[in-house]
Amino acid sequence: MIRFENISKVYQSKNSIIEAVSNVTIHVKEREIYGIIGFSGAGKSTLLRIGNLLEKPSVGKIYMNQQPLTTLSKKELREARHKIGMIFQSFNLVSNKTVWDNVRFLCPLPQSLF
Ligand SMILES: Nc1ncnc2c1ncn2[C@@H]1O[C@H](COP(=O)(O)OP(=O)(O)OP(=O)(O)O)[C@@H](O)[C@H]1O
Ligand SMILES: [Mg+2]
Repeated sequence: MIRFENISKVYQSKNSIIEAVSNVTIHVKEREIYGIIGFSGAGKSTLLRIGNLLEKPSVGKIYMNQQPLTTLSKKELREARHKIGMIFQSFNLVSNKTVWDNVRFLCPLPQSLF
């Protein structure tokens, strides 16, 4: 179970403020496959990076299986990340495998799901 609660992310530089993610709430239930689609720059990658706190949200909370990631210590977060599979956009896919085989290869899901 994955829950994003009221997630916003603002990048601020000297000359500009970019709201990359604006007040997103998503509940993904166990065994549910959830797609996030949007134009280039819509904030998809930022939201996914927030999902394991590679990026900290400016506002909001993330729960993985009831565990609130945003309140964990560094050590607890490292341990929690062992259970979160992530495939980055531009590399790491095995080109001669199918999408399903890539997911099976790269994500630490229980065998019962396959
Ligand atoms: N580290 C950063 N600093 C400043 N702005 C950023 C940063 N990362 C992303 N952005 C900006 O946040 C917005 C969302 O970017 P993001 O990469 O999440 O979009 P995306 O939906 O994944 O796009 P794409 O489909 O091209 O991969 C964009 O305007 C982007 O320029
Ligand atoms: Mg992206």
